Amino acid sequence: MKLFVKIIKIILFALLLLYIGAILVWNFSQPAVKWKDEKFNIVQEVFPDDFMWGTATAAHQVEGNNDNNNWYAWEHTLNEDQQATIHNNDKSGAAADHWNRYPQDIQLMKDLGMNAYRFSVEWSKIEPERGLINVAAIQHYHDLVDSLLAEGMTPMITLHHFTQPIWFDELGGFEKEENINDFVKFSRRIFEEFRNKVEYYCTINEPNVFVTGGYVRGDFPPGKKDPQLAGEVLFNLLKAHTLVYRTIKALPGGQKVKVGIVKDIFVFEPKNRFNPGDWLVARTVDKAFNESTLSYLKTGVFNFEFPPVSITKKYQYGKGSYDFAGLNYYSHIIFDFSFDQDKALEPYMPEDEIKTDMEYTMYPEGLYTAIKRIATLGAPIIITENGVADHDDDIRGAYIQKHLAAVSQAMKEGYDVDGYFYWSLMDNFEWAEGYEMKFGLYALDTLTQERTLRKGAETLKTIIEGN
Ligand code: FCB
Repeated sequence: MKLFVKIIKIILFALLLLYIGAILVWNFSQPAVKWKDEKFNIVQEVFPDDFMWGTATAAHQVEGNNDNNNWYAWEHTLNEDQQATIHNNDKSGAAADHWNRYPQDIQLMKDLGMNAYRFSVEWSKIEPERGLINVAAIQHYHDLVDSLLAEGMTPMITLHHFTQPIWFDELGGFEKEENINDFVKFSRRIFEEFRNKVEYYCTINEPNVFVTGGYVRGDFPPGKKDPQLAGEVLFNLLKAHTLVYRTIKALPGGQKVKVGIVKDIFVFEPKNRFNPGDWLVARTVDKAFNESTLSYLKTGVFNFEFPPVSITKKYQYGKGSYDFAGLNYYSHIIFDFSFDQDKALEPYMPEDEIKTDMEYTMYPEGLYTAIKRIATLGAPIIITENGVADHDDDIRGAYIQKHLAAVSQAMKEGYDVDGYFYWSLMDNFEWAEGYEMKFGLYALDTLTQERTLRKGAETLKTIIEGN
């Protein structure tokens, strides 16, 4: 009996040591970052003259008349519960009619003092059938680029921003490694068209969001809930990025341009910093969502762990295939451990933080943390997206001010940030959320297509003018 008690004591002691050790390591490796108000002053002098100030959009969200891609098909499908796939059963439809109204929209950017614009080219319009190029669609993007250049603005092209042609999906999309080549061909074509005009190319927007929506949560097309496939598609997207990078670099003019990937970083945190369960969830999600991609880019080794799924792959050219790191940042996500499977991944909303209209709060310190993290890629950073859904427009100004303060703080510490693109110029089709989420610096009336400047946008204008 005595021996038994002794063994139990030793086990308990070992567990206690393990607990203390783990909590210490976790807290030190990822400390809580919370700033006092005065730290949110912008360090104006750090922004160089050639800093890119702009907005970002994506073709499907703003152009209108995209009826030949995966999202169009998805908008017109019912989900597994026989419900509309998009909030309110919205359809992207005419969107912001940016296809026709881009000259006016460029003027709206100029009015805010901007000198850059990030947009995506719609693959399904350019290559409506496999191997068939629609020259008029390419010409449209030439016109857009020419108009930007005429206004002295720097264009930045995104090659893949969540949408892909229906024919590509029918072949299996990025679920099949052999399909990557179709995307590389398309990207090559775009580069050959624009290499003399456009310096910046983003290969793939937010590969992790694409797979989380499409293959884990199932609220993005193709609406699957299959984490194994999520990991495989993620690898194929990263491989596609690498191949596009290498292809462009090997072509005439390739060395003159800058090619990068766009990585979204959500900061995943435990609700209770002394609760190993909270840490475990936060760290597991972080590994699958952030680290898998970042370490692939750094080493060429892809490691996707989302228990019970475990995938390891190597691609020798993966390492270092980027000229810049695009960073999209929106917020942090906090986990409150639960044994109930359905609740395990439900985010916790801290009471003391300002709520946005999305399912997360405003957490500007996280942009600073995310910059430091993506800086481990060792390339110049461009904030390719940052913005807030704020229907009432009562936090947008503060959001912009505080996030730019976080950027300026990082720059003051020596981090190389070359630009900031606010998401988005005008309200648009916010994927599964439809039109309810209002991210625009300009409010959009979808009936009249009228754009109206929001008060919160003035903050950005003033900051840009101050530089
Ligand atoms: C990002 C997407 C972008 C937009 C913003 C709000 O994840 O890249 O298209 O929807 O969120």
